[in-house]
Amino acid sequence: MMTSKEIRESFKDFFANRGHQIVPSAPMVIKDDPTLMFTNAGMNQFKNIILGNDAIKYPRIADSQKCLRVSGKHNDLEEVGRDTYHHTMFEMLGNWSFGDYFKKEAIEYAWEFLAEVLKLDKNRLYVTVFEGSPAENLERDDEAAGYWAKYLPENRIINGNKHDNFWEMGDTGPCGPCSEIHIDIRPESERQRVDGLSLVNQSHPQVIEIWNLVFMQYNRKADGSLEPLPNRVIDTGMGFERLCMAMQGKTSNYDTDVFTPIIKEIEKITGEKYAV
Ligand code: SER
Repeated sequence: MMTSKEIRESFKDFFANRGHQIVPSAPMVIKDDPTLMFTNAGMNQFKNIILGNDAIKYPRIADSQKCLRVSGKHNDLEEVGRDTYHHTMFEMLGNWSFGDYFKKEAIEYAWEFLAEVLKLDKNRLYVTVFEGSPAENLERDDEAAGYWAKYLPENRIINGNKHDNFWEMGDTGPCGPCSEIHIDIRPESERQRVDGLSLVNQSHPQVIEIWNLVFMQYNRKADGSLEPLPNRVIDTGMGFERLCMAMQGKTSNYDTDVFTPIIKEIEKITGEKYAV
């Protein structure tokens, strides 16, 4: 079984081998952006590059970013402590392309990493694509669906709405359609009984999103309008603790070795037993 440390390293190695510069996690408290208090996504530290205000130093980057989702647009606080797969602080594995590769390679890399490198069961993977939004004059992401069709049968490529499949950093800022990868980690008997397809995006604790591939193409302005970005950008984010859960055959993020050493230490200090 791969440890969490090995899983994180294999992600970085995979993208380093494909020309990505590996950078450190940015601080979680944001200093120069009045629109955001805490880092809520891996792309925050690249916001000015995405908007075209800063020069592109490396066209390809990958990292593991510590994120805090406790306020604002992306707020998981109500879920924490109630379910098995949300956290106040979590790590997001991400790869970026700034004006370099776009949807095709982003999808190829993601599939290759999960299915070939980590050898997760392909039959347990589902993907979603943006269904479009006539109100905003945005079309269905047929392009992404077309690339996915190389790997998955049509019925496991699911349309998703603006809430789930159009990612925005906050009320303003970089945004674009996205494609999510979901995994079904239920026991085989359960899978026979209920098709995983019907459980995607239904808040089932064992049919969960693990990776979001965002195809950044717009900047949301304060008046709500969408302005095209100077470069097309790939921004992906994978839930590290969720990936560890899937890889380590657990049904809770808290049962992975990301948390068990800490929990054991707390048991020792408090003399209390950890119980679910
Ligand atoms: N920005 C996207 C997210 O946070 C992908 O990295 O989900």
